Amino acid sequence: MRDALGSVQSVLVLGGSSEIGVATACELGAPRRAAVVLAGRQPEALRQAAATVRAAGAGRVETIGFDALDTGSHDAVVEAAAGLVGDLDVVVVAFGVLGDQASDEAGGPGAVAVASTNYVGGVSAGLAAARRLRAQGHGVIVFLSSVAGERVRRANFVYGSSKAGLDGFALGLGDSLAGTGVRVLVVRPGFVVGRMTAGRRPAPLATTPGAVASATADAIARGRELVWVPGSLRWVFAVLRHLPRPIWRRLPLGD
Ligand SMILES: NC(=O)c1ccc[n+]([C@@H]2O[C@H](COP(=O)([O-])OP(=O)(O)OC[C@H]3O[C@@H](n4cnc5c(N)ncnc54)[C@H](OP(=O)(O)O)[C@@H]3O)[C@@H](O)[C@H]2O)c1
Repeated sequence: MRDALGSVQSVLVLGGSSEIGVATACELGAPRRAAVVLAGRQPEALRQAAATVRAAGAGRVETIGFDALDTGSHDAVVEAAAGLVGDLDVVVVAFGVLGDQASDEAGGPGAVAVASTNYVGGVSAGLAAARRLRAQGHGVIVFLSSVAGERVRRANFVYGSSKAGLDGFALGLGDSLAGTGVRVLVVRPGFVVGRMTAGRRPAPLATTPGAVASATADAIARGRELVWVPGSLRWVFAVLRHLPRPIWRRLPLGD
């Protein structure tokens, strides 16, 4: 339960070793020494992430197992987190895979893995979080969407379409929760310089995990439902969204 000042006291990050997820846990955990649960599939990566979040000032940091593809386990993971720290003030759906567009298009399991992780896993984990938060009567579910889903590009349509689906799901889930005390925040970062994009040329208006984290914390505090990072991308996409497709598909916007 958030304290009298409205500060976050407990956070669950699904995809607990994600760079953006860890930065967000640091940002949310530090001010009031909140309890943080990092949920992921690689114990060593989680241990390192937990050390980072502890060093940033969080009160208590726990790690638990979580696989986005194991949808049957998602309710139990959320309940396990609540069992460790009590009511969950914020659940961050941070996991995701970028895939490799060229090989994903060529065949094999890559495209299905991207769609299953980002969309199916996000739907399942998001609904599990919503069930828990509804029962509590409060809380915020944060979905890491992407501008890649705002208008899907030829260059990364496998990843982009998975984010488009997730973004639409998250907005609809938020509408379904209106009046319950539970809120959904959709975060739409542009290109984030970090592990996921390593080796790629940064797109215009590229940002950082820290900037995404601080925009997310600010949006939670202000009760917002949607945030673009950086904020100027909202206006850029207000134009790009309406470009005719023959122009859109030729636009040199990077990978
Ligand atoms: N980086 C960007 O440019 C960018 C831009 C817009 C939106 N986003 C979105 O922001 C979110 C976080 O991205 P990031 O930059 O922090 O990337 P990241 O550091 O690569 O983190 C991705 C996380 O997803 C986890 N993950 C992947 N598959 C999983 C599965 N099946 N089960 C559980 N966890 C799984 C990874 O865990 P493992 O360690 O187990 O692999 C890792 O912790 C993602 O949803 C991403 O799509 C990123």
